[in-house]
Amino acid sequence: MIWNIGIVGFGHVGQGFARVLMEKREYLRRKYDFRYKIVGIVDRSKGSIYRENGLPLKRVIKEVEEKGEFVSYLQRMSVEDLIKSGNLDILVEAIPTDVRTGEPSMRYLRIALENGVHAVTTNKGSIARGYRELKKIADRNGVLLKFEGTVLSGTPSINLMRDALAGCEITQIEGILNGTTNFILSMMERGLSFEEALHFAQEKGYAEKDPSGDVDGMDAAIKAVILANVIMDANISLEDVSVEGICKISSQDIKEALQQGNKIKLIATLIKKGDEVAVNVRPEKISRDNLLYSVDGIENALLIHTDNLGRVFIRGPGAGGKETGQAVLSDVLAIHNHYFSRDLEPRIQAALFPIFSEQFHLLHGTQNSFS
Ligand SMILES: NC(=O)c1ccc[n+]([C@@H]2O[C@H](COP(=O)([O-])OP(=O)(O)OC[C@H]3O[C@@H](n4cnc5c(N)ncnc54)[C@H](OP(=O)(O)O)[C@@H]3O)[C@@H](O)[C@H]2O)c1
Repeated sequence: MIWNIGIVGFGHVGQGFARVLMEKREYLRRKYDFRYKIVGIVDRSKGSIYRENGLPLKRVIKEVEEKGEFVSYLQRMSVEDLIKSGNLDILVEAIPTDVRTGEPSMRYLRIALENGVHAVTTNKGSIARGYRELKKIADRNGVLLKFEGTVLSGTPSINLMRDALAGCEITQIEGILNGTTNFILSMMERGLSFEEALHFAQEKGYAEKDPSGDVDGMDAAIKAVILANVIMDANISLEDVSVEGICKISSQDIKEALQQGNKIKLIATLIKKGDEVAVNVRPEKISRDNLLYSVDGIENALLIHTDNLGRVFIRGPGAGGKETGQAVLSDVLAIHNHYFSRDLEPRIQAALFPIFSEQFHLLHGTQNSFS
């Protein structure tokens, strides 16, 4: 059984995923009986490459590192061509987020799902804007849509709340959802001004040249929209979130908060009452007895209030190519396990998923994987 995977967007996340896959190839085969081929990659500036029998990832990554673009296996191929090649089981999409429209990620995901291809994305724009529509298309076509990397990068969040906490009703979530702003606030606690802390974050690669999406709270807000719609069954958009960023926080505010034994953090709060979910993002004073108090630097965290378990807390990396690549890997493995769990005997798999199993064995039964 070999999964044919295509990647759209070969930047930090696309390459992070490719590296994790490559490094873990043997481990994944041994532990999960997971085998794969990356058959095609399409990127706006690097070009597009395709090889039916699988691309040699080590060589592809080396060439991108050295030349900044693809060199071998070049093909003039659009994302549509890649999806419709008939040679794809999973599309991994990691192109930049457009918070206003969700495009062109929406379009790529729609085409994949409509063509019976599972889709994994790290794109917040399309999931915040179009989750319901995309989920319907996925269900209609019997494929899965996964997006763990959109919130908290590789630190479990979406799948944690949907799968591990299944059966718990989640009534409230408080989260530090943006590592850049958390880093800036942590640096301000050490005496830097907002401008100095922002500059330091940019030097370290934590903040973009145009940091507005982070510091104005929009990045945290769009992740909060995803949590509200996916975890709390709301139907809201970015415009429904009350958002205040950290630009107006002064060194004096930070100093006063510290003197009172508090820290200022950019907090996203989601509260569910009946069918309504209220969401806001704003700087808040966090006291020492709050679990979010000690989440410093670029870390992210979620404090999840549930009926069956009380409070559940998770913290970890909230950004990074490899970290978000891990989120993609966990989604890809979830798709694999959904159909081909080692715990299921082949005859049970065939009974549960007859058409898919049959096609899968016919298509991939005798091929080799490359990495
Ligand atoms: N990096 C993280 O830590 C992180 C964490 C969680 C989620 N995410 C999300 O993951 C996605 C990817 O992030 P990233 O950090 O990998 O971004 P990135 O480094 O900027 O890489 C994106 C790549 O996609 C290419 N691209 C742009 N538009 C495209 C299109 N229409 N078709 C094909 N390729 C296209 C870009 O090419 P150009 O060079 O021409 O622009 C670039 O090579 C974003 O939506 C981001 O919000 C990132």
